[in-house]
Amino acid sequence: MKRWTSLFALGLGTLAACTAPPGSGGTTQVDPEAVGATADTPSSADTAPSADSGAPTPTSGLVSGFDFVVGPDGPCGAPATGTPPAPKLHSDPKKQVRNPHMTWQRDPATTLTVTWTTEWTDLASYAPKLLYGPAQAMCDDGRFLLKSGKVAPGIGATYDATVGDKMVPVVAWTVELKDLDPDTDYVFRSGTFVELDPAKKKLTGPELGKVGSFRTAPKKGDRKPMPFVFAGDSRGGAPTIAVRAPTYAQIPALAWFFSGDMNTVGTQAEWNDWFKAMQPILDRRPLMPVQGNHELFSDVYYNQFALPAMPGLPAEWVEHAWALDIGNVHFVGLDSNSSDNVKGSLEWLTSDLKQAAADKDIDFTIVQYHHTTYSAGPHGQTPWVKELLVPLFEKHGVDLVINGHDHIYERSLPILNDKASTPDKGITYVVAGGFYAPAYKNGQGWWTKVSHHGSKANYMQLLVHAKVLTATAWSGDGKEKLDEFVLMR
Ligand SMILES: [Fe+2]
Ligand SMILES: [Fe+2]
Repeated sequence: MKRWTSLFALGLGTLAACTAPPGSGGTTQVDPEAVGATADTPSSADTAPSADSGAPTPTSGLVSGFDFVVGPDGPCGAPATGTPPAPKLHSDPKKQVRNPHMTWQRDPATTLTVTWTTEWTDLASYAPKLLYGPAQAMCDDGRFLLKSGKVAPGIGATYDATVGDKMVPVVAWTVELKDLDPDTDYVFRSGTFVELDPAKKKLTGPELGKVGSFRTAPKKGDRKPMPFVFAGDSRGGAPTIAVRAPTYAQIPALAWFFSGDMNTVGTQAEWNDWFKAMQPILDRRPLMPVQGNHELFSDVYYNQFALPAMPGLPAEWVEHAWALDIGNVHFVGLDSNSSDNVKGSLEWLTSDLKQAAADKDIDFTIVQYHHTTYSAGPHGQTPWVKELLVPLFEKHGVDLVINGHDHIYERSLPILNDKASTPDKGITYVVAGGFYAPAYKNGQGWWTKVSHHGSKANYMQLLVHAKVLTATAWSGDGKEKLDEFVLMR
């Protein structure tokens, strides 16, 4: 998440690029270092400002129970009798939790970031909070009872969103959890509350989103089985996604990756529809995206996603390119929107890939960006990608490249030096750009191993277990296996 105060409010226009690196600007409402204060020993950071600056007083009052009980009171372990607690929304719609989702900014084994937005823009009178704890503390019936729950504070940053033909300030609230246990299930609720009363162990005026959950990654270098999902290109597809998202949310995955073109131009209204459609997935899986050519309002995109800020990357390209080690896999996300955009991160990328290739804990390097590298679809081969990126990938041992942009499914033969090669030497290029954007016709190039028309829609599951990576591509309805391949290292 890039952070800056509202340019709109300053009358400076709306689409100026931000050059502030994450953490260098914006308004910090509470000390993010205070993350992890426990229920029994709350720090001052756990107490939000009591004045609400003219906002209606929350009507929810005190929440009864011990430690943090948000929802029906009572012991855990009892037969499931109720439905999960509904979000306890603020009476002022502007303060309600909107579009909550998870990303990773740092080590996926020990951290996790939750971001949501509100139309409430007074940074001083809203304290973003996350109630979180190990999933074992959650009742079977979905009640959120955290006997050992913790409260993590966050920060807010204002950005200008397009709503109709107007620019309207919106705040993205970000809470980063730290010091988590690797390979562990957690539950959380995002929102805010007016006050924590440690003596009574009660929250005053909670305004919380619904229960979310996630699993931290295994420690770096661990070679435990890790499932992932890759998807891309959903512009205009929100209604279909909304129908299928509850099913997609059941697919085992540590995280989802999205290769861009979520919306047609990326107005806030479109994003709200997209997040709403994706919500069943986003409530359970972190999602790591890259920017496509349709994320035209890039401020809106970068403010809503809190992504890794890579040391060594020029400030203007921070979050445009990122990398994460998850278990024994090095994942890289890139902005491929132009030759200049690629060049902006090239120096960093060179050293990043070199480092990953030399890392004995890393078995696979997977790179994701939007524009096609080897595609027989209408977009074909992207010149600046082939010229600038492919030589680096070949030099530094990239195993798999995943693109979108063409709304088809296509997998290449292993390729080296622009020729078909063998799996031990060549790189496999996949175009998985059919998450319900308008379908494109597939084609056949010398490199094409498998291809499918976009009308089938598609997403890809990856399972990495030690030195074996199994990829399975499915039609959007999950009924047809479009492809399956294995990479071994
Ligand atoms: Fe595209
Ligand atoms: Fe697209």
